[in-house]
This record gives sequence, C-alpha cells and structure tokens, in this order.
Amino acid sequence: MDLQLNDKIAVVLASSKGLGKAIATTLAQEGATVIIASRNADELNATASEIKQSTGAQIIALPTDVSKAEDAEKLINHVAGQFGRIDILVNNAGGPPFDKFEHFDDEQWQNAFELNLLSFARLSRLALPHMQKAGGGRIINIISGSVKSVLANSVLSTSMRMGVVGMAKLMADELGPYNITVNNVAPGLILTDRVKHTLPKDVDPDEALQKRAASIPLGRIGEPKELAALVAFLASAQASYISGTTIPVDGGAGRNIY
Ligand SMILES: NC(=O)c1ccc[n+]([C@@H]2O[C@H](COP(=O)([O-])OP(=O)(O)OC[C@H]3O[C@@H](n4cnc5c(N)ncnc54)[C@H](OP(=O)(O)O)[C@@H]3O)[C@@H](O)[C@H]2O)c1
Repeated sequence: MDLQLNDKIAVVLASSKGLGKAIATTLAQEGATVIIASRNADELNATASEIKQSTGAQIIALPTDVSKAEDAEKLINHVAGQFGRIDILVNNAGGPPFDKFEHFDDEQWQNAFELNLLSFARLSRLALPHMQKAGGGRIINIISGSVKSVLANSVLSTSMRMGVVGMAKLMADELGPYNITVNNVAPGLILTDRVKHTLPKDVDPDEALQKRAASIPLGRIGEPKELAALVAFLASAQASYISGTTIPVDGGAGRNIY
C-alpha cells in the first residue's frame, strides 16, 4: 500500500529516541520530510544523521523543549517559514514520573501538565493555521494504554492522557470541517529506554522483561516500529475517515471490552 506520504511535511516531537524516533524513521521511509525535535542537541543530530542515512529522506533536527512556549513557537515558525505548510503533527513527550498519588506535590502535577497536556494543546494550536492553509492535516497524539485500563503508580500520566483524550475528541469535532483528523495512539509496553529505566534494579533486566511479558497475550514486549506503523497509517491518505479515536498498541494487554 502506498501511504502517499511523499511531499508531506511531518513534525515529530520527542524524537531523538524511543517511540518518537521510530515514528520519524517510519514516516521518512514512507517518503515524508520529517522535522525531529527534542532537548539534547547532540543526540537529536545523531538521530537525524542515522535516519537520513537509512532512508534518504530529508530530516531536519531542531532542538526543542516541548514544555516551553518559546521553543514550541520557534519550532513551528521555523517549519512554516521553510516549507509553508505542516501536514502531520505527532505530539509526543517524555513521560512523567511513576509513584503513588499521595507522593506527588503541586510542582510535580504542574510539570506533568506542562509536559504531557499543555504541550500537546499548544503545539496543535500553533500548527493548526499551517494545516488549514495546506487544505488538511493529521494530528496524532502519543499517550498511554493507562487511559484504557489501570496501571499502578501512573496517576500523573493517566490524568494528563485522559485530558488529551478529551481534547482530541473536541478537536476532531471542531477540525473535521478543515479536513484535519485527530487521533490518539496508546502504547502498552514497548521496549524503549524509558521502559528499561523503570525495571527493578535488583533483578536481571532480561528476567524482569520476561516477567512483564508473561501477562501480555502475544507473550512479548512490543517494538517501537510496531507502534510507528500505526502512526504512519493514521498519517496516510488511506486514514482519511478515521478521527477522534484512541487506538491501543499493546499486544492485547488491555482487558477492557469496548
Ligand atoms: N514505551 C512504552 O512502553 C510507553 C508506554 C506508555 C506510554 N509511553 C509514553 O510514550 C512517550 C514516549 O516514550 P518512550 O518510551 O519513547 O520514551 P524514551 O525512550 O525515554 O524517549 C523519550 C524521548 O522524548 C524526548 N523528550 C523528553 N522530554 C522532552 C521534552 N521536554 N521536550 C522534548 N523532548 C523531550 C527525549 O529526548 P530529550 O531527553 O533529549 O529531550 C527522547 O527523545 C512517553 O510520554 C511515555 O510515557 C511509553
């Protein structure tokens, strides 16, 4: 299937590694010009060179902290100035810390809000006129499977992701007339640095991963490219009638029936 992403301009946030990097790579493989953005400039530039080399696509690295308003404005202005349009926006960010509800103070709630909800709202709002000008667009939010079934210690993540789900529903409603679709992708357990860093320190990492995989129907942890494939499809011409959804990529781990 030709996803018809040639000539599309895609902005993928939080993309020097993990899910964002895999999404940027897959969109580049499909022919899009991809702008990648995260904080560490050296890592970001290395990722841009790697994707450029493996795909031959045009990759532009713009160091950005998605939680900072001035960075977000600079990023979108740069892309709009260079290309005159934005076709695809993939909202993504680092994850907030895991702990019990009673341990988080106001500052941690505020940080999670700025990183995992406000950044998605702000970047979507900034990209919107450039999608409208292009005659349509795709906004895809990377959230978490915790919006579907409870994940222990994920109160900050779950609260902010639920906000994104509500926002995306309203945005899908309002932006449909502009031919802009808005969808959420909800990862279960996908092997990235974030997952590696949250393994218990006192157990062999392979053993700990196997233990976590045991409760997943497909019997294994996902690979970033398996999530990226769904994002590329949602970004494609073929996904033109899919909007306002939240789709899990979790190997069947969610046990909810709806
Ligand atoms: N992997 C999973 O199984 C899983 C499951 C559920 C939800 N998620 C969510 O999916 C998102 C991505 O996770 P991941 O596993 O890919 O994480 P990861 O491997 O730790 O990668 C995080 C990426 O985000 C960038 N980043 C972090 N904070 C940023 C900021 N303020 N501004 C711009 N870029 C920032 C990092 O680069 P810099 O540090 O250089 O900025 C890095 O490129 C997270 O929100 C996570 O909670 C992941």
